[in-house]
Amino acid sequence: MSDLDDAATLIRAARRGVVFTGAGISQESGIPTYRGAGGIYQTVDPMKVSNISFFRRDPALYWTHARARGALALAARPNSAHVAVVEMERQGHVVAVITQNTDGLHLDAGSSRVIELHGTGRQVECLDCGTREPRSHVQARLDVEFPPRCLECASIYIKPAAVFFGEAMPARAVADAFELAQASDLMLVVGSTLQVYPAADVPLQAAQAGAPMVIVNLEPTPLDRLALVVIRGKAGEVLPELSRLAAL
Ligand code: APR
Ligand code: ZN
Repeated sequence: MSDLDDAATLIRAARRGVVFTGAGISQESGIPTYRGAGGIYQTVDPMKVSNISFFRRDPALYWTHARARGALALAARPNSAHVAVVEMERQGHVVAVITQNTDGLHLDAGSSRVIELHGTGRQVECLDCGTREPRSHVQARLDVEFPPRCLECASIYIKPAAVFFGEAMPARAVADAFELAQASDLMLVVGSTLQVYPAADVPLQAAQAGAPMVIVNLEPTPLDRLALVVIRGKAGEVLPELSRLAAL
């Protein structure tokens, strides 16, 4: 049997499957990854652009970087991998998606339970008064207001509601993620270097609780050794094939 067949057999048997995703699942939607080939961290230092203390020191530097990436994320649409995950849910194999991504594409694709471990880039939040507004509204006024200010208190400390390095992850999301991992009967990991903790502890928890793990990724990951099946391939090609085979 091929790796695809082995993985499809595991997916077909699952009733409480969890899909854990990283930037690689959105790469074919036009959003660059952070690490690996073509990742943005080859050109920008994450500690400069996605770090809360650097943000507070220089919001304008953050928004200079975020302007381009934000435009790509706001223009992005779910790709065939996101859609295949919804199909696996419809087939009754997957009960939730746990994502490190802040692009909102799993929600757009129609996944009914999405745990956003690193928050969302679709909203912008004021660090001074808590006011939130859609990221698309802020993006639209960057040409006339830079760095952007809070609509309520005019603070320049407004940032996407995504978790920056140095910020805590949303406690509810983290608790739900580990609960789902613990109860899962399949952990399907797609498009992550599995290098950022505590997020990467989620698939580890599932594997340690006895769930079979399938990893679909272009490059090796530190958890490959724990996976029953590792598929080197593009999410947009592999996931639709897995969902087709799982339905047979
Ligand atoms: N299909 C499958 N895998 C892919 C594809 C693709 N089309 N394109 C890239 N990949 C793989 C890369 O080989 C890489 O291993 O996806 C992985 C993406 O890894 P990262 O860029 O490190 O993304 P991620 O693991 O989600 O990063 C975790 O780090 O910077 C923080 O908060 C940020 O949520 C992010 C976290
Ligand atoms: Zn404010």
